[in-house]
Amino acid sequence: MNRTEQIQNLFPKESELPSAVRLEGRIDQSRYLVGGTLRSWDGPFEEVLSPVCLRAEDGSASQAVLGAYPKLTEKEALEALQAAVQAYDNGQGLWPTMSVADRIRHVQQFTMLMKEKREEVVKLLMWEIGKSHTDSTKEFDRTIEYIQDTIDALKELDRVGSRFQLAQGIIGQIRRAPLGVVLCMGPFNYPLNETFTTLIPALIMGNTVVFKPPKLGVLLLEPLLEAFAESFPPGVVNTVYGEGQVVVGPMMTSGKIDVLAFIGSSRVADILKAQHPRPHRLRCVLGLEAKNPAIVLPDADLELAVSECLLGALSYNGQRCTGLKILWVHDSLVEEFLRRLSAAASDLPFGMPWDPNVKLTPLPEPGKPAWLSQLVEEAVSGGARVVNPDGGTVNQTFFYPAVVYPVRPGMKLWNVEQFGPVIPVVSYRDLEEPEQYVVQSNYGQQVSLFGRDPKQLARLIDPLVNQVCRLNLNSQCQRGPDSFPFTGRKDSAEGTLSVSDALRVFTIRTLVAAKENDLNKRIITTITRDRLSSFLSTDFIF
Ligand code: G3H
Repeated sequence: MNRTEQIQNLFPKESELPSAVRLEGRIDQSRYLVGGTLRSWDGPFEEVLSPVCLRAEDGSASQAVLGAYPKLTEKEALEALQAAVQAYDNGQGLWPTMSVADRIRHVQQFTMLMKEKREEVVKLLMWEIGKSHTDSTKEFDRTIEYIQDTIDALKELDRVGSRFQLAQGIIGQIRRAPLGVVLCMGPFNYPLNETFTTLIPALIMGNTVVFKPPKLGVLLLEPLLEAFAESFPPGVVNTVYGEGQVVVGPMMTSGKIDVLAFIGSSRVADILKAQHPRPHRLRCVLGLEAKNPAIVLPDADLELAVSECLLGALSYNGQRCTGLKILWVHDSLVEEFLRRLSAAASDLPFGMPWDPNVKLTPLPEPGKPAWLSQLVEEAVSGGARVVNPDGGTVNQTFFYPAVVYPVRPGMKLWNVEQFGPVIPVVSYRDLEEPEQYVVQSNYGQQVSLFGRDPKQLARLIDPLVNQVCRLNLNSQCQRGPDSFPFTGRKDSAEGTLSVSDALRVFTIRTLVAAKENDLNKRIITTITRDRLSSFLSTDFIF
């Protein structure tokens, strides 16, 4: 079969599915967690379709139906919020006043139970969002590692906080205290990892949480509901499902959300922030869109640049906020770059998420291939061409990657975040052109620079670090390692996430202070010696 035929015959028959990935019937999730109880929903449901299509006997293919999840209403959303408000109890609840060591024990118990669900969650990641087996497994394992690193970072933070400070005759103990009720919403491309990289730090620092899974990638969280219910006191973790406008809007307008942790679009983030009646009481932790450019300098190592650009542009089909979304290549090497990039793209194995070594898979967002085709057609009608053979070929939910060149201002591909397997390439003569592109862009997450001359690179580093938040030298853009800060400027982010930064972002520095006199020394000594307080304490967590 040639590639065109392979694309047309991409989808398997149900009988051809490997037994390890077969699902036993529909997953009709009816449970949601509120106030420590797994409630059962008997209202309307949202049907869940897989990006994977199954071929019928007559050769036609349609998206596999995976099951359904509850379409809750405003009432249930407000009940979930109320459960979180009650568990926080103005900071007087069991959870926010619990010792750090005890909160860590709860999170450890949850992690233990979560690990038991690894295979189930990985399988659902493949079916629900079309992520390859390798990347789905990586997402699960990276999340477990993130939780463990969070526990270690908190122990370290707590050790620092368990010391008293003395300044100008005042004794102080400074720690970080929780902020209140956190609403966590992750994105569809990392529905587990990016939900948990806000949810876990928010929880472990003593906040209570309502979390809403993304629109796609919902069922994979169901196997963890029992673990949440078993591991945390009632109301500390609550879930809501359904239409964002129906369930999230009322929670925001209630004014009872203290922190909005949202990974998604700036358009939605702006709507949610504006719904809060007292914006000064709302802290926002936002991971938003980006259009990270690669700049390939005339002296770049072409082989390295091509392989990193390909990885950056097409890992998980380009559906990463950190993906490389436009490639600026110096005029002197653009033709050779395109030839190599196109050849390398053609070598990428495509197929079903569970196929060994697969790199390109079907896309989960409804209507996405048609939208990507429009972007490519618009560029082509403006004078660009699709460089790679079969680029842009569509079969149902599958879109074969398209390398599009030359992309120019005025084309949508110039500044729209494609979030899919389309690689816009621009050639430049003067470095001023890509530099100005970065300055003019609405986004400010990361840039990749490819070159060898230290002087030239240094000349670019200094202005660009004031435009974006990470410069990658001869490397694709990425979030990891998770101990590094992850953030962006302009429309790309608000607040910084990393293992240790996340502990800060969900808390506020709070202290107990006292003039250094005999009375106060005696009080502090008694409180710490008799362990009368969780906050004012010299206990050291090993
Ligand atoms: O979608 C955005 C993710 O944070 C990207 O993370 O660079 O590790 O794939 P990653």
